[in-house]
Amino acid sequence: MNNEQTDSESILPESFDRRQFLAEYWQKKPLLIRAGALSFLDPVTPEELAGLACEPGVESRLIQVNESQTKWSMRQGPFDDEDFLSLPQSNYSLLVQAVDQWVDGVSAMLGDFDFVPGWRVDDIMVSYATDQGNVGPHFDYYDVFLIQGMGQKRWQLGQRCDALTPIDQSSGLRLLKDFKAVDEYTVSPGDILYIPPGLAHYGVAVGPSITYSVGFRAPSWSEILSGVVDQALDDLNEDQRYTDPQPSLPRHYGEIPVEVISDLQQKLTTLLTQPERIRQWFGQTMTAPRYPLEPDGDDDSAAITIDALRHQLEQGMEIYKVPGARFAYYAGKDAGNARSIEFFADGVSYSCNENCLLLLQTLSAPGYLMPLPESIKNHAFSDDSTLQLLADLYNQGSLTLD
Ligand code: SIN
Ligand code: CO
Repeated sequence: MNNEQTDSESILPESFDRRQFLAEYWQKKPLLIRAGALSFLDPVTPEELAGLACEPGVESRLIQVNESQTKWSMRQGPFDDEDFLSLPQSNYSLLVQAVDQWVDGVSAMLGDFDFVPGWRVDDIMVSYATDQGNVGPHFDYYDVFLIQGMGQKRWQLGQRCDALTPIDQSSGLRLLKDFKAVDEYTVSPGDILYIPPGLAHYGVAVGPSITYSVGFRAPSWSEILSGVVDQALDDLNEDQRYTDPQPSLPRHYGEIPVEVISDLQQKLTTLLTQPERIRQWFGQTMTAPRYPLEPDGDDDSAAITIDALRHQLEQGMEIYKVPGARFAYYAGKDAGNARSIEFFADGVSYSCNENCLLLLQTLSAPGYLMPLPESIKNHAFSDDSTLQLLADLYNQGSLTLD
């Protein structure tokens, strides 16, 4: 979907100091950034949002609240016209997840948040609320920038929360049993409220309102550990098993000697701390799309070869990133001290050589919606490994031709 907002329009005011923000606020304390002189043009309309919420592949929720703001109810999409026609005039919100994956203009909003690496971004959720609509007092486990689009919202910020904070899940939402407002702000179009992980917040619409939530990806340590363990398991087989470190006569038949435990500890450390496995898991996890990509064409026979791709480019076709495509790369020295470059594209990893570095940096630039520049195309014409990478990315649905 193409919309009017382009990646050249800034949503952060010029006075916003990225370095100071990272040092003082990021992951620490909330900050309200007023739009100042900037005007804000919504890249999506409430009608388009409702249309997305009717699509089967799109995650959406409708949340209603009673007049006294004490009871919430939630329904999961996809929805149909009837669902929207039967809604009241006020007191509801429609939430659509990962709109950056579907709407170019929403994806372009990420261009302003280039002071945090792109692989940390999770998605942009967009909410449309009618007067008094809200999602209830809650906390999130991740950082979020709440960008106010059309209309106004009254935000209350509350206490610090954690896994022990009492939660009411009876509505299907994770709402705070006890919300203690500490600060209150009314936001208008273009204002941005940054909220660090774990801080309670509660935003109530004042008239019809749209909010864009730029959320960040932060796997829990249990996810990190199980992910790296899964990587290690891939390389193990039944032949690799426990062996006695130093066979010797037992001091006592029932005693587990200290050396056995320290030997296990050392072997486990070796298994779990292989840098290749850690970076494979991390790169793939941080770039995995939230929802499956849809490659052009619907079967393997539609896969493009490098010759066909060269031909298309020579004919003047342009290559674009699909909105929401997630790219990152790792460039470090391996054990032999050679540069090892790994590229992660929507959850898939590719080993690359130094020739591809410029391409990888161009692809992973923030909010990039332009066709790939001539210089990259020319490079691809003279380097088959680059052309092959472009073909692979096209075939997995991360790039498109137009
Ligand atoms: C909203 O858009 O109203 C809620 C977003 C959030 O609290 O994370
Ligand atoms: Co929230």
